[in-house]
Amino acid sequence: MADLIAEIATLESQAYEAIRQAHDMEALARISQEYTGKKGALTAILKKLGTLSPEERSVVGKAANAFKEKLTTWLNSREKELEELRLSQLAETEFLDLSVTPPEFAAVASGLSSGHIHPIVQTQRRLEQIFTSMGFSIADGPQIEDDYHNFGALNFTDDHPARDMQDTFYTKNGYLLRTHTSSVQIRVLESTKPPLRIVAPGRVFRYEEVDASHEHTFYQMEGMVVDRKVSVANLLHLMQTLLSEVFGRTVTTRLRPGYFPFVEPGFELDMQCLVCNGSGCPVCKHSGWVEVLPCGLIHPNVLAAVGLDPREWQGAAFGLGLNRLVMMQHGIEDIRHFMAGKLDFLEQFPVIA
Ligand code: PHE
Repeated sequence: MADLIAEIATLESQAYEAIRQAHDMEALARISQEYTGKKGALTAILKKLGTLSPEERSVVGKAANAFKEKLTTWLNSREKELEELRLSQLAETEFLDLSVTPPEFAAVASGLSSGHIHPIVQTQRRLEQIFTSMGFSIADGPQIEDDYHNFGALNFTDDHPARDMQDTFYTKNGYLLRTHTSSVQIRVLESTKPPLRIVAPGRVFRYEEVDASHEHTFYQMEGMVVDRKVSVANLLHLMQTLLSEVFGRTVTTRLRPGYFPFVEPGFELDMQCLVCNGSGCPVCKHSGWVEVLPCGLIHPNVLAAVGLDPREWQGAAFGLGLNRLVMMQHGIEDIRHFMAGKLDFLEQFPVIA
């Protein structure tokens, strides 16, 4: 019996050492087999229990069971240890340091700068802030429009020259690229009950002879207020607030009558050219003034077209030319810069946080 007890003690220290040295799950499984498998060392001892006296059997049995328990505990804790080790090694080797410049880019890395928002969008966002603070919502509409939303519902007669191939890009299947954001007025009025106030910024397209002040693709911000009582005074106050907020100072403006089929009365609000301070330059076509804010009261025919009773509802609208406004803001002399995709131009207008 003493032999068996001694043997168990030896097995224990051997097992402990083997488990401590095991470096993977396979090794642990093998050790487990070596002791408790069919032909395992501990199994062999248990088989011998039958040859002992009941007292001896009880003593050796207890020792054998204690060993078995220890074996299980050691195996489990080593298994856990190995798993943790594996994970921490994985974290070491799989860690991706995104701040490291790959060698193949090292040469250009010094010249790289982070991107920023386009100057037109910067001003657009500033305007959105100003208008939302005055209770306006931001509206959107499709750039590919149908004749009805771009022209028909806006009181353009069938023979209006703006529909001409000279001014409008048409698609082969009868649509067009919107020539102004006024199409969004109709889209909003079709889906929303007044009273309402919206601004609708976006891209518009015209078949233009491109020069320093004309582009085929440019940006507008439409504004519209529809309520039971809306006056020219309301409209002008809105325009003045807008310009003084954008420029941070009073700008010299003038109001002229302007014709647009969808407003009555209609106006052209010009501002004195800030590029040349009114003395004349290519931006203002040497007139000293820049048209930035065509506007007016919504024509009764437009209200009627969307099912509103013109005796009950009134509206004001404006169509801010974003490119020209931004040109004034920064003293940009050529509208073509905006779409040219030239970094040396764009980098002059970083976002100032
Ligand atoms: N949509 C007109 C244009 O692009 C501008 C405009 C908008 C005029 C709203 C009056 C009212 O020329």
